[in-house]
Amino acid sequence: MSNPAQIILDGKTFELPVIEGSENEKAIDIGKLRDLTGYITYDVGYKNTGVTKSAITFLDGEEGILRYRGYPIEQLAEKSNFLEVAYLLIYGDLPTKEQYAAFDKSIDDHSMIHEDVKTILHGFPSYAHPMGVLSSLICSLTAFYPESLNPNASEKTINDSIIRLIAKMPTMVAWAYKKSKGRPVNYPIRSLEYCANFMHMMFADPTEIYEVDPVVSDALNKLLILHADHEQNCSTSTVRIVGSSQASLYGSISAGINALWGPLHGGANQEVIEMLDQIKNDGGDTKKWIAKAKDKNDPFRLMGFGHRVYKNFDPRAKIIKKACDDILHKLGVNDPVLAIAKELEQAALNDEYFVERKLYPNVDFYSGIIYRALGIPTNMFTVMFALGRLPGWIAQWKELRNTKEPIGRPRQVYIGEKTRDYVSMVDRG
Ligand code: SDX
Repeated sequence: MSNPAQIILDGKTFELPVIEGSENEKAIDIGKLRDLTGYITYDVGYKNTGVTKSAITFLDGEEGILRYRGYPIEQLAEKSNFLEVAYLLIYGDLPTKEQYAAFDKSIDDHSMIHEDVKTILHGFPSYAHPMGVLSSLICSLTAFYPESLNPNASEKTINDSIIRLIAKMPTMVAWAYKKSKGRPVNYPIRSLEYCANFMHMMFADPTEIYEVDPVVSDALNKLLILHADHEQNCSTSTVRIVGSSQASLYGSISAGINALWGPLHGGANQEVIEMLDQIKNDGGDTKKWIAKAKDKNDPFRLMGFGHRVYKNFDPRAKIIKKACDDILHKLGVNDPVLAIAKELEQAALNDEYFVERKLYPNVDFYSGIIYRALGIPTNMFTVMFALGRLPGWIAQWKELRNTKEPIGRPRQVYIGEKTRDYVSMVDRG
């Protein structure tokens, strides 16, 4: 064992192997720790714990680096499109022209959803949160495609499930929106590019012709690319641990959607815009709200700020902030909360509390301002995050399945009652 880690427990020295990744990340392999020492490790929130080796996404929180399969996020956001990035994440390489054409056609071929899904959709009240609707509709695919439940399904069956998810989620999202408005749903149009098709399904209405502004579809491509994967975050870890029990891809993705829903994770983009509106309606006194965010007795947090991994800057936030200015200018949208967001960012970046804790704007801080400028309602922002993250979830689930990882089953340190005998109700007094 070259250059092992040494740990001394109860006067005995134990050696544990050290592994190193392709970007020189180092980890102590504790796979044999309990057998060797009787001890386990303890790491609430897995802040220092690697749960897998992955070849999909690399991020460096100190340097603000994010790469999908080795390609820098800045280049992909600038030069690629969402469907091409989805192919890259899922299959490992950028597609050739022929591969892309075949992928695009397969997505078109599967973008319709079974008409019976409308029965499930109409079972929800119009005020249902679209994340709950989406996770239910995605899980319903296990009923329409029962072959997806087979843990030993063929590669073709697995790939069919992958294509159906990428193809049908935009339709489901748009149908959930139309349902909430009491308006008739739109069907996908093969001739439209992926993001343009989504915007058409969201906003077209039988009463008029709806043309998708290329500025809008370009903006959406960029946003979805920036959300497409982020290594072992909360929702991706959920998809992987559910998938590790050999649950279906549809069931694993539905679980990931629910994990993303939380306000500390993907739900933050909705919380940010509601926070910015609250600050605007309160008179726009950013100093007052910065003070509230620092006050331990105040439950208020500066939503869209801080990150478990990025301790310098979130490269996605930098790209989205710049895109904000460009897109709102091109669309002629003047949203006063953009100025408030920039003021908050500046105040925080010059405040000891945030600097000391390395709290910077994250991917959610500016994204909602763009979604609102595109006409997407606030309660759909987290669903947009899910739409973007889908290829990453799929790629991570596929990697776990291909490497045949064992079922995820963490340990614990028990702090409850020691053994005690049962006393019957009569004798308990
Ligand atoms: C996403 O993991 C990923 O990659 C996620 C994601 C992805 O692409 O999948 O990047 C997407 O989820 C981005 C994060 C969105 N969430 C928010 O914006 C919610 C607000 N931010 C936080 O609640 C918080 O920063 C987290 C959840 C993002 C990170 O939490 P950690 O790493 O567990 O850090 P922590 O809560 O322990 O905070 C450390 C300190 C604490 O102060 P002290 O106890 O040391 O005095 O920083 C403070 C916190 O109180 N703090 C904040 C704060 N975030 C952390 N104080 C005020 N406002 C904030 N936003």
